[in-house]
Amino acid sequence: MASITIRNLDKETKQALRKLAAENGHSMEEEARILLGNAKKTAKHKLISLALQKASIKQAESEEIELNLHDKRILLVIGGGIAAYKCLDLIRRLRERGASVRPVMTKAAHEFVTPLSVSAIANDKVFSELFDRDDEHDIGHIRLSRGADLIVVAPATADLMAKMAQGHANDLASTVLMATNKPVLIAPAMNPQMWSHPATQRNLTTLQSDGINFIGPNAGEMAESGEAGVGRMAEPMEILSAISNILVPGNPPKPLAGKRAIVTSGPTHEPIDPVRYIANRSSGKQGHAIAEALGRAGAEVILVSGPVNIANPEHAETIKVQTAREMKQAVETALPADIGVMVAAVADWRSVNQADEKMKKENDKGPSSLKLTENPDILKTLGYHENRPTLLIGFAAETEHLERYAKAKLKSKNADWIIANDVSPEGGVMGGDKNTVKRLTRTGIESWPRMNKQDVAQKLVDEIVNHFEVETIEV
Ligand code: C5P
Repeated sequence: MASITIRNLDKETKQALRKLAAENGHSMEEEARILLGNAKKTAKHKLISLALQKASIKQAESEEIELNLHDKRILLVIGGGIAAYKCLDLIRRLRERGASVRPVMTKAAHEFVTPLSVSAIANDKVFSELFDRDDEHDIGHIRLSRGADLIVVAPATADLMAKMAQGHANDLASTVLMATNKPVLIAPAMNPQMWSHPATQRNLTTLQSDGINFIGPNAGEMAESGEAGVGRMAEPMEILSAISNILVPGNPPKPLAGKRAIVTSGPTHEPIDPVRYIANRSSGKQGHAIAEALGRAGAEVILVSGPVNIANPEHAETIKVQTAREMKQAVETALPADIGVMVAAVADWRSVNQADEKMKKENDKGPSSLKLTENPDILKTLGYHENRPTLLIGFAAETEHLERYAKAKLKSKNADWIIANDVSPEGGVMGGDKNTVKRLTRTGIESWPRMNKQDVAQKLVDEIVNHFEVETIEV
C-alpha cells in the first residue's frame, strides 16, 4: 500500500496540499489520502487501458488475417436439438468477428439451452413468442426477418426443415423464415435415421431448390449411445466459414493463419536403372487437394510432391522430389511445423543397386532378379522426431482389414489421426476423383460419406481447424 509522510514533503508541495485541503474542507492528512487513492486509480486505469490497447491491436491484427464480419447482422434461429448448445460457441465466435447476433429460439430449443445464457452471450434479448406484447404491435416478425443480413438456422431439426419446406408459419421461428427476403443458411442436426428418411430428403431437395443454403450435417457419433452416421450438426467454425462465404464472398476465413503445414503427396519413383523405376498408381489428387485447402485456410503450406501429372496447388509452396529418400530429406528440412499430413504413397522398397546403364535381357537366363531394400518411413520418422508436428496425420491405403491395419499404423507411427481409405480396384480411389474414408483418432473412429477429393480435403481441414480451436480456447 502506498503512503507518504507529510513532514517529509518539500515546502512548495506542503503549501499546495494545505491550500487544496482548505478548499475541500479536509485535513492535510485526509487530502493526501484522497490524492493517493486517486493516483492509484489513475495508474490502474492506465495499466488497464494499456492492456486493452494491446488486446485491441492483437484483435485488429487477427481480424486482418481472419474473417471480418464487422457490422453484419445475423438472425440466429435456434431449433430444439441437443446440438443447440453449440450455438453458444457460434454466437461467441460471430461476435468476436464483429457481427451482431439476434437470437430467436423455438419452444423446443428452450429445453436444450437456456434463453438466459443465449441472451447473455448474444448481448441481446431472446425472441421466442409470435405474439409478443412488446414486439408485435411493431410487426415484430417482419422487423426481425428484414433487419438481418442473413438468417442462420442452427440446429435445424427435421421438424423445422419440414415446416420450412411446407411453408408453415405457426410460431415465431417459422414465421420469420417465411417473411424474410434475406439469404438463409441452415445447419441440420438430427438422428441419422431421421436424416435419411425419404420425407427429410424430399424436404432437403425442396429447400435446396428454394435457394436455401446448407452446411452439414456431418458424419460421426450421435448423442444417443451406440448411434453413428450422418446427422451431426456442422461445427461452429464450419458454420462460421459458410456464413462468411455468403456474406463476404471473396473474404474467406483464414482460421489457420500463423500455422505451418507440411504435406506429402503423390507416389515416389525408385529407380532401377536409367529408364525403369518402382512406382504405384497414386495420382497426388488427394494430397494436393489437402495442401490447397490448408493454404486457403491461411496456413503456410510446404507440399513435398513425388512425380505427378497435376498442377501445383495455388496456395502452397511445392517441392518436387523423385524418391522416398529425397522426400524424407525435404520434409525434415521443412520442419518445424504445426501440422503434418503425410498423404504420399511412398514406395516401401527400392532397388539396392541402381544400374548406371540400362539393364539388358540376358538370353536364356530367364528374368533378372532385383534385390530390394526398405525405404525410410517418413511418417514414422516425424512421429518420433524431436520437432514432431503438433498434429500429425497419416493415411492408410488398404485393400483389406482397413480398420485393423489403420489402428496399428496410428500406434506404430505415433500419429494423431489416420485417414484410412479402401483402395481396392473396384472402388476406383487410386487415380480417381472420389474417396470414401474413415478418420481414426486415438479415441475413436468415424466414417465419412463418399465425397470428391476436394470435399474430403475441406472436411479434413475443418477438423484440423476444430482441433486447434478446441486446444487453444480458454473458456
Ligand atoms: O505403412 P504404410 O505405407 O501403409 O503407411 C501409410 C502412411 O505412412 C501414409 O501416411 C504414408 O504417407 C506414410 N508413409 C511414409 N513413408 C513411407 C511409407 C509410408 O511417410 N516410407
